[in-house]
Amino acid sequence: MEGISARHPPVDDCWSSWLNHGRDGGNAVVRAHVAAQTAAFAQKLLNRVQAPPATMLDIGSGDGLVAWAALSRWPGVEVTITDISPALLAQAQTEAARRGVAAQCRFVRANAQSLEAVADSSQELVTSRSALAYVEDKPAAFRAAFRVLKAGGMISIAEPLFREQMLSMNAWQDGSASPLGALLYRWKAAQFANPCGAAQPNPVSGYTEQDLFSFASQAGFQDLHLELHVDERKAPPRDWKTFCAMSPHPLAPSSAEILATRFSPAERQILEAALRPSVESGGFGITSRIIYLCGRKAG
Ligand SMILES: C[S@@+](CC[C@H](N)C(=O)[O-])C[C@H]1O[C@@H](n2cnc3c(N)ncnc32)[C@H](O)[C@@H]1O
Repeated sequence: MEGISARHPPVDDCWSSWLNHGRDGGNAVVRAHVAAQTAAFAQKLLNRVQAPPATMLDIGSGDGLVAWAALSRWPGVEVTITDISPALLAQAQTEAARRGVAAQCRFVRANAQSLEAVADSSQELVTSRSALAYVEDKPAAFRAAFRVLKAGGMISIAEPLFREQMLSMNAWQDGSASPLGALLYRWKAAQFANPCGAAQPNPVSGYTEQDLFSFASQAGFQDLHLELHVDERKAPPRDWKTFCAMSPHPLAPSSAEILATRFSPAERQILEAALRPSVESGGFGITSRIIYLCGRKAG
């Protein structure tokens, strides 16, 4: 594996912890639900690729979701799996061996902002699923993707749009907010607002679909196509403990942590009484907003 010391096994970090536990709270039913949903996102981004590529690079591969989907679809493709997390690269490497596809995979520790260690004009396809969302300098990431693509190569990404979470927070904050709304505002703020005193907007909630389109265009991509898919669905029923162990993205604290550190015992009681019945019955509505963007480097 490139960029990783073989002598020191990688330790868990916020990225591996979230993918392995934080997004499902360790609950098997929720895990199956998340797996089905993320697999559908990966298929949709690959559907936009018109011709089977010989080479592809996935940005922020995590445990390899997009890479395995691509290898099933195009058995001959050579995949460069990149991530900043040594723990996830090691996990993906183990999974590639289990699937019998290790010979077609290269594992590279690289920041999306530069994709260092990846040669110019070396890839026919660049993909990313829910990784650019966490990158502070998103224009630099699009420039790096452009750099590593061959002439005529294609980019296809699927990124969450979390900005609405900020806007719904702001609605709770306005003067008409109920006492419960004010508590919910503080909860959401812990997950999506700008860190106090931060010079930069929160990378997770500080961009729009238009921003991503512009960054891609400014990097040099052409024939850009963007679709924003907004889907509402009911969350699966979860016991309260599972719900509290979950967080909406890798940089957010878990709900248990937020309840313990940001609310008084009386406030915790109000929140639990208001939310727990819907959480446990599965009545909670969840809206996903996914930006699908693809484009081409002129041939
Ligand atoms: C939500 S996970 C998504 C993982 C995978 N793409 C998937 O679809 O399941 C976000 C991934 O982005 C990676 N990541 C975060 N910031 C990054 C950066 N600056 N450069 C490269 N990878 C990054 C994390 O390590 C993590 O694997």
